[in-house]
Amino acid sequence: MLNTKISVLESLNGHLYMDGLDLVQLAEKYETPLYVFSERRLKENINEILSSFRKYHPNTSLHYAAKCESTIANLQIILEGGSDIEVNSGGELYKAFYAGAKGNQIVFNGVGKTVSEIEYAINSEIKSINVDSEFELERTIEAARKLKKKANVTIRIVPEVSTGVVKGNETGTHESKFGILLDNLEDVIKKATEHREALNVLGYHFHIGTQTYDLQSFVDAFIVMLQISVDIYKTTGFKPRILNIGGGLPVPHYIDVAASQYMPPNIYLMLKGDLTIEQIAKSICLQLKADKVGAWAGKEYEKFFDECELILESGRKVVADAAVLLSRVENKKYRDNTGEDWITVDAGFNTLMEVKTYFWYYHMVCANRTDEYHGKDFKVGGPCCDSGDVYFDIDSHINLPDYRKLPCSTGPGDIIAMLNVGAYGTPNMSNYNGRPKAGILLIHENGEVSVSKRAETYADLVTTETRIKEIRKG
Ligand SMILES: Cc1ncc(COP(=O)(O)O)c(C=O)c1O
Repeated sequence: MLNTKISVLESLNGHLYMDGLDLVQLAEKYETPLYVFSERRLKENINEILSSFRKYHPNTSLHYAAKCESTIANLQIILEGGSDIEVNSGGELYKAFYAGAKGNQIVFNGVGKTVSEIEYAINSEIKSINVDSEFELERTIEAARKLKKKANVTIRIVPEVSTGVVKGNETGTHESKFGILLDNLEDVIKKATEHREALNVLGYHFHIGTQTYDLQSFVDAFIVMLQISVDIYKTTGFKPRILNIGGGLPVPHYIDVAASQYMPPNIYLMLKGDLTIEQIAKSICLQLKADKVGAWAGKEYEKFFDECELILESGRKVVADAAVLLSRVENKKYRDNTGEDWITVDAGFNTLMEVKTYFWYYHMVCANRTDEYHGKDFKVGGPCCDSGDVYFDIDSHINLPDYRKLPCSTGPGDIIAMLNVGAYGTPNMSNYNGRPKAGILLIHENGEVSVSKRAETYADLVTTETRIKEIRKG
């Protein structure tokens, strides 16, 4: 049975539909593997994030994290939907402009910004460069002086809040490579504000990690940021205009309840990701008013926050449930010794974020058999020549489910839809094993379909290369 609450998806006459269109027909017409995005859902998600936060803090803006998915058509939809953009490299900055963003709609994060990236950002007069270290602050001052322009900067802090998700996804403690320690912050602010000829210092930034399922982590990090801002204001007079709380709003990944019995509880909760935007917005914005933060809470702090722009850099929550990945079953086998049924689909870790590295779970539905009972256990693998290219946790690292539940008769030719794949999937595609990257479709609000990015061909695999013969001729 189709086990999803995603409103853009529905089951009709045994087929999976997205925004009223038959996904099986789309898979036939455009070939698999194929990503399909919903304009409607992208805009609904932006609206939900902005309206939830603006209810409590009207001066809130969303800078969608382009690293999550940066197909130009999707960036255009996201801008149309009322979001601004967060970028992490010169390339993403270029793509944001190409999609139509203005400089004042862009904030730039990154832990290794090059001089030319910083100069590009300053020349483009972007809203803020989120400075990651003391060294980067100096590099930014130098770049601004050279260009005879002012750089808008926000300082990335380490709030020392652990979120309990997979280690590689935590970014808010000193164990991760990001940001400036609280102990060093006052000196950094002093230095930054001494260079008013080169910098407009706007405020503070943190990002504690993706798929943060624990409400308290958001609240704790926010309180740390507010507290340190007030402390530094008292000693230096610097008052922030921007408080940027990064991304991390979680998305439910429809993990089977049974998995809670054998998975580590934090990983299960992370994948379940059922914390709502409303809960997060309310807890953060009403924290001061509710006087839950102890002795330091009070009118002074409330006013301090009220006067700041609150920035969110959500990525996953904007795009994850706006996409499915359609993949065709190309092989099957039965292992007598273990009694296991295996199927191979044509989307492996070259097409969808690698399960082996990221330990992620994607729910699967047989798109051409939605009215058949999804109750039989299948081990699912991708086509790549690597034992790790499977949809389970081969090293039992965090005990992802070993099987996907699909109809008994699932086999070659069937179309498997993987749900909630819109985040961190397409930008991580590779040509491993000489496999062309998948195409990306967009279903528009009016029901039309367009190709945002065509599927690569074999010829695309060699277009940037030069053969020895041509090198020798030259
Ligand atoms: C600085 C920063 N902001 C925002 C995001 C987006 O996070 P998410 O997709 O979980 O919202 C990330 C992702 O890692 C990030 O590093």
